[in-house]
Amino acid sequence: MVKITVPASSANLGAGFDALGIALTLYNYVWVEEADGTEENPLCLIESIDGAEIPTDKSNMIFQTAEYLYKRCGHPFKGLHIRQESNIPMTRGLGSSSACLVAGLLGANTLMGSPLSLHDISDLAAGLEGHPDNTAPALFGGLVTAVMDGGRVHTVSVPVSDRIRFAVFVPDFELKTEVARAVLPDKVSRTDAVYNLSRAALMTASLFSGSLENLRVAVQDRLHQPYRFPLISGAERIFYIAYELGAYATAISGAGPSVLAIVDRDDVQFISKAEAELEHSGLSGWQVRLFSCDSDGATVEFIN
Ligand code: HSE
Repeated sequence: MVKITVPASSANLGAGFDALGIALTLYNYVWVEEADGTEENPLCLIESIDGAEIPTDKSNMIFQTAEYLYKRCGHPFKGLHIRQESNIPMTRGLGSSSACLVAGLLGANTLMGSPLSLHDISDLAAGLEGHPDNTAPALFGGLVTAVMDGGRVHTVSVPVSDRIRFAVFVPDFELKTEVARAVLPDKVSRTDAVYNLSRAALMTASLFSGSLENLRVAVQDRLHQPYRFPLISGAERIFYIAYELGAYATAISGAGPSVLAIVDRDDVQFISKAEAELEHSGLSGWQVRLFSCDSDGATVEFIN
């Protein structure tokens, strides 16, 4: 049996739409082993060990992704036994679907004897997801810059300053990525393009170097957040709360609806103060938790 551990991820970081992402110390755990079905009738045995509501039939994303890789590699597929502990909230902009894709691909690749490299897996995961800014952090950890070019993903993962932590505000409602992408304009002005690309570059360099005074400008965005705020009731108020409490930067996490705030490591009161402000603002459907940047990315181990 193989155990895969995959971190959550927060994509975009404001200006870095479809290009930047960071892995967080929040993990899904997946145990996978080959089942004893037949190629004509593969077995699908799926358990949720933490009670999270996941598909337990062949529509399960980990099962489907693993089956896809077996067939792509020309390897007989007789089914899988999968157990999942799903700590990453689903459809909340924290990379849960990328975590499933990465788990399915890594699990299948390992069970087949690792015919593919990690970079092959990265290319396939980003191709299946449609953009690389969650799949690459989930695989490699750290702060990731990722570019898809001709089906290949070019990435650099770097550690971030140890002086920061990540407060994640998660609402009790979902927002599907396809809905949050459908509201975006197809064309943008050169002014807005330059606005974002300069800030995305500043964000990467500032997080890496610990130039925290730049983050509030680096996180500004004109390509996606202005169009997405109307879809996320409470998000603008949470930006206000986070900045009032001293956050260095605040962004919609991925396509939303969660909100990411970058805070100082030593600000031990941030979460309790934020919880009080959420309650005071009538945002009781939102929860806030603190994470660090995961620097390892997905890991695979054999379990006897
Ligand atoms: N970059 C993607 C988006 C992330 O903003 O649509 C989706 O999680």
